[in-house]
Amino acid sequence: MNFEVGIIGLGYVGLTLAASLAKSGVKVLGIESNEEIVTKVNSGKAHFTEVGLAPIIEDQIKNGNLIAKKKFDATDCCKYFIITVGTPLGSDGKPRIDMIKTAISEVINQMSDASTIIVRSTVEVGTTRKLVENELIKTNKKYYLAMCPERTLEGNAIKELNLLPQIIGSDSFKASESAAKLFRNITKSIIYVDTYEAAEIIKLVDNAYRDIQFAFANEVARACDSVGVNALEVINSGKQNYPRTNVALPGLVGGPCLEKDPHIFHQSLKKYGIDLEITKAARFVNERQPSEVISKLIEKYFKNKLKERLKVSLLGMAFKGKPLTDDLRGSMATVVYKEIRESLPSAQIGVYDPVVSKENLKNHYPNCQIFKDIKDAAEDTDLLLITNNNDFFSHQNLDDIINSLSPEGIVFDFWNNFSSDPVAVNNKKYLSLGNFKVANNE
Ligand SMILES: NC(=O)c1ccc[n+]([C@@H]2O[C@H](COP(=O)([O-])OP(=O)(O)OC[C@H]3O[C@@H](n4cnc5c(N)ncnc54)[C@H](O)[C@@H]3O)[C@@H](O)[C@H]2O)c1
Repeated sequence: MNFEVGIIGLGYVGLTLAASLAKSGVKVLGIESNEEIVTKVNSGKAHFTEVGLAPIIEDQIKNGNLIAKKKFDATDCCKYFIITVGTPLGSDGKPRIDMIKTAISEVINQMSDASTIIVRSTVEVGTTRKLVENELIKTNKKYYLAMCPERTLEGNAIKELNLLPQIIGSDSFKASESAAKLFRNITKSIIYVDTYEAAEIIKLVDNAYRDIQFAFANEVARACDSVGVNALEVINSGKQNYPRTNVALPGLVGGPCLEKDPHIFHQSLKKYGIDLEITKAARFVNERQPSEVISKLIEKYFKNKLKERLKVSLLGMAFKGKPLTDDLRGSMATVVYKEIRESLPSAQIGVYDPVVSKENLKNHYPNCQIFKDIKDAAEDTDLLLITNNNDFFSHQNLDDIINSLSPEGIVFDFWNNFSSDPVAVNNKKYLSLGNFKVANNE
């Protein structure tokens, strides 16, 4: 069959792009090695929650603009190939390239002369040239190669695919033009950079920059906790009508991109003899935070109860609450859970999330109770931890939550969801990141 585009990997990035291109009238073939995903997509459904995605998939499967397959058929013909496979960190802490390697060999088997190949996965600097292009050169076929990173925000990807400028990096003018022709179907704004490497670095800089901003906010929270002042008051008062400070709000920093991209950036530059000190320090601060906070909480409140069968409830398991997502990958809630498991081995731990399905939660936390609602989670609880910033939480009645806890129970909120709730102020049962209420040295 003839298609305009073959997208290799129908995960969060591949499927949203496939849906958006198909909606714009482009005929898309999605190649996905996970058979369950292929079946789901071909039945008109998305395999994750993303605002606006499900109806597009349903329509585009019905009208035939989008088809998913496990492998290319020999007769499938695509003008463009886009690689959107995963690049998680391996057990050695380095970004995995095995999926990129397999994807490029599948593309090479399928491509005809003068195909355009687009690398969209987040990769170590130099991967497009040294890994992908080197393989393409060996084919002796004519090719156009570009690196076009995905920069959308999970939960807002469908909108952002149309609104954000698309970075296109290539050494070849013709390759850039060819890639731009495709992306113009979904966005009006194209930004060209002259090399694959510039495009690769732009993506890594975007995420390292965010990680650094959040790390600084967490550093401020850490400072305020130690001194015994409220970090939110410090941050919000300090930037009020003051044009030169814009500190982010403190909180747990994770997710499938931030947990790895700053590491990929750091690893990339090591090969060039450079140690990215700020990028590395930011990751260190954000990764240390859950264990530091949990051990402080345990030291202050549960030191004499380590062996007790305490009830601990974790609320907000998706890696973020804004925009809404059901993605559990790289969620710091998982790290918080592990810390509690280790520090309080006899605790009964339960979890709740307003977006993630009960089935997913059960698969991810097989040894935990899955609460049906907040009431269930708060009832007689010794430690209630809120681990993301889903607006759902700030709309709850904090007074009711506190009154449901066990007599000595406390709430610890990693995201200050109740910062504007009068019940939270001076309430010794409600603690939050950057507002620990008791100075470290007391
Ligand atoms: N999730 C995001 O919001 C986001 C944003 C920007 C960039 N990225 C980057 O984009 C890439 C993809 O991310 P993702 O979140 O979509 O990952 P993902 O793991 O959700 O999706 C990748 C998919 O590719 C499939 N796959 C792997 N090898 C394959 C092959 N050879 N043939 C066919 N299918 C194959 C996997 O089964 C999986 O479904 C990563 O490099 C990531 O860092 C992700």
